[in-house]
Amino acid sequence: MRPLPSPGDAVAAIDTPALVIDLDAMERNLAAMAAFARDHGVRLRPHAKMHKCAAIARLQMAAGAVGVCVQKTSEAEALADAGIADIYISNEVVDPVKLARVAALARRVRLAIAIDSVAGVERLAAAVAAAGSRIEVLVEVDVGHGRCGAPAAAAGQLAQRVVSHAPPEGGLVFAGLQAYHGAAQHLRGAAEREAAAHHAAALARAAQAAMGALGIACPLVTGAGTGTFAYDAASGIWGELQAGSYLFMDRDYADNAPTPGAPRFEHALFVKSQIMSRGAAHAVVDAGHKSHAIDSGLPQVWQRELDYANGGDEHGIVRVRVGSGTAELPELGATVWLVPGHCDPTVNLHEHYVAVRGGLAGGTVESVWPIEARGCVS
Ligand SMILES: Cc1ncc(COP(=O)(O)O)c(C=O)c1O
Repeated sequence: MRPLPSPGDAVAAIDTPALVIDLDAMERNLAAMAAFARDHGVRLRPHAKMHKCAAIARLQMAAGAVGVCVQKTSEAEALADAGIADIYISNEVVDPVKLARVAALARRVRLAIAIDSVAGVERLAAAVAAAGSRIEVLVEVDVGHGRCGAPAAAAGQLAQRVVSHAPPEGGLVFAGLQAYHGAAQHLRGAAEREAAAHHAAALARAAQAAMGALGIACPLVTGAGTGTFAYDAASGIWGELQAGSYLFMDRDYADNAPTPGAPRFEHALFVKSQIMSRGAAHAVVDAGHKSHAIDSGLPQVWQRELDYANGGDEHGIVRVRVGSGTAELPELGATVWLVPGHCDPTVNLHEHYVAVRGGLAGGTVESVWPIEARGCVS
């Protein structure tokens, strides 16, 4: 293990490549989303699949979040082990061995999970019965993403199946509807996102009606991401927002046209890199795609008129942007800050965050946080 930075170290001394949080920017993002949820009378349950870190989950909960979401059983276990006590697995689990872990975890923390099939309900009910635990269950409906989720018309029957395993005989507590439209989040135009969110709202309403037709009240609709949360909150349907990326704001999200009237978020997550080689017309940084994910495009060089090109696993090529009059290639050893294209899989590449106060240029290290759920993909 290489030595970690210590609180009080200068930002300039952080070894590269490193995953660095600008705490001042992150706290502004945190406060803006917390205020939005408060002002709109909706709960906030941020998605911790994004940061995978208990220290950050605690900050979100201290600012008013009711708990966190995760996608994976092992993520839930890692965050529970690190002290997070209210977790929602906003995803389906059908493997019996994994369900036994879910049911065991439900004895330790307040746990919820999504289902989208009758078999999924029955397997979950059996696991929970064997463990003697209780779990909240959300029926997932496909509201436009075309991934998991039952058709809206099937929501009533699924909810009924959950209710058939209600306490005291069973361990499933029906908790509402999971409705997340992932494909809407990165539609670039605000009007396009609004239209997709309206479509999702109509499907969520249809799912509620299907439950109502069987005499089942839907206590909560939960979902929403950084691209649509303002439209979802305005619909009056969603009672809980699951946005995650707002906290770090990656390059891909910054490429969205802003949502009118919604809070704006700042880049708060960076990869610190260093120029390790120089040619006549290019320079090479020590951060390639083992340091940042490239599924949503290459990183942006922060506040410099330089473009980043893929240099492979451990390298990135930087060149002066065509048409930029005065920009020069950085010197050997110079620091180059990269804004990752996609925060979630970038975080999954690192062991720690180095959280800095006072800016990237002259600040100091305040904390080093372990990324407890890094690598928890099962
Ligand atoms: C189910 C679910 N909810 C919420 C989110 C949060 O979205 P974002 O990080 O884009 O805000 C995601 C992200 O993929 C998700 O899968």
